[in-house]
Amino acid sequence: MSYVLGVDLGTSGVKVLLVNREGNVEYEHTEPLKLIQEKTGYAEQNPNEWVKHTYAAIKTLLLETNINPHLVEGISFAGQMHGLVLLDSNNQVIRNAILWNDTRTTEECQDIYSKVGKDRLLNITKNLALEGFTLPKILWVKKHEPNNFNKIQTFLLPKDYVRYQLTGKLHMDYSDAAGTLLLDIAKNKWSEEICELLDIPTKICPELINSITEVGMLTEEASRNSGLNMDTKVFAGGADNACAAIGSGVLSEDKTLASIGTSGVVLSYEESSDKDVEGKVHYFNHGVPDAFYSMGVTLAAGHSLSWFKETFANDISFDELVQEASSVEPGAEGLLFTPYINGERTPHVDANIRGSFIGIDASHKRHHFTRAVLEGITFSLQESVNILRESGKQIETITSVGGGAKSDLWLQMQADIFQAKVIRLTSEQGPGMGAAMIASVGVGWFENLKECADTFIKEDRVYEPNIVNVKQYQNLFRLYKDVYQCTSEINNQLHAFRN
Ligand code: XUL
Repeated sequence: MSYVLGVDLGTSGVKVLLVNREGNVEYEHTEPLKLIQEKTGYAEQNPNEWVKHTYAAIKTLLLETNINPHLVEGISFAGQMHGLVLLDSNNQVIRNAILWNDTRTTEECQDIYSKVGKDRLLNITKNLALEGFTLPKILWVKKHEPNNFNKIQTFLLPKDYVRYQLTGKLHMDYSDAAGTLLLDIAKNKWSEEICELLDIPTKICPELINSITEVGMLTEEASRNSGLNMDTKVFAGGADNACAAIGSGVLSEDKTLASIGTSGVVLSYEESSDKDVEGKVHYFNHGVPDAFYSMGVTLAAGHSLSWFKETFANDISFDELVQEASSVEPGAEGLLFTPYINGERTPHVDANIRGSFIGIDASHKRHHFTRAVLEGITFSLQESVNILRESGKQIETITSVGGGAKSDLWLQMQADIFQAKVIRLTSEQGPGMGAAMIASVGVGWFENLKECADTFIKEDRVYEPNIVNVKQYQNLFRLYKDVYQCTSEINNQLHAFRN
């Protein structure tokens, strides 16, 4: 039996999957990653930690499975999007990477609108200027750290840096480049116009390639550090959300995905580069050549739950925490949560908004709060489902992957809130599975990703909406939506009190 490896470089950890020719995940291992948060709104990581932990994860996998490294034919990557990695002329990291959930760049977003123009920006990139994207971060470094800016030879995104360390080659794939706000997404090339208007040298933009392009093989050093053979083929890989789409079979117009990791996304396949979503949701290049996807993003989805657990329930496991919530009826007995603990993107582009629990009653216990957190995250994703439906998408079935697909309670909740059938697959590893699928097409096991999906992606269970719960959630969703309007001005003023 031969294998491929899918590496999912997330925010809370780097996960490596060992996948066989039938698409079964034979082994997975995660190495946790820490977030550096010096100030409110800041989120950074050291790119060399990603590399160190990727090596450690692969080594553990080889050790624990005892497989001969010769049997690993290929490797590819899914990466947290948008994070800015800056390299100098010796390809050394200049400063910590500034991540997708860092919201320090509100002023730079305004600069982009005033110099490029909102309509022109939407025209070229199909997206709004959002704090999390890469371009505002480059402008932030230019303004606040001119010494670092002057040293820049190349900028990369997170998984591109890990791949560079493995192969010695500098590239970026289209699906991830789309999230920089520097890519002309219809023409598949860097926008010289945006670079010129913002006075950014185009030479710092790396060579662009497709997700399934073979980049090369491992360097001697990478082979030593990972335990893999030097002739393991390395394929470019893609943005984690593009890979989640691949890994859950979202490869045609009728398919929609809900993926809950640190962030949460609702994503739909799009055939054309010129559908106009007016920037209400993101519009990016897919990992499949010449395809696209529209996507709404909840910044703190899984992160809201992990924050809640770390802060209030550190004595129990995630499974126990979610289990507790199943003893509470839908609606958490009048308790609502909004998951804006890092600010928000969809539908509210607002870096200052923060989360709320509304309706706290003296009778509420921890399990009511947990239920409210799960419901609040899912309501937030429902806002994206609604935008996609309003844009003309028929959404009757949604495939769920990530942390939200691990529990029956949460899957049923998604069906009831989304008012759609929700599908659980045999593996909930969306991004890592997508990366493995890219590698398996690359090494020649399949002609293309669709053919691979036919073998790799297997439905496990379908959750049908429950009519009684649907009604209850429809009423609560109306109230949930009001919380943003009622709390946004208060949160603007509270901003001054955060450090
Ligand atoms: C998407 C986004 C997040 C990250 C998480 O625009 O910012 O989903 O990709 O890794």
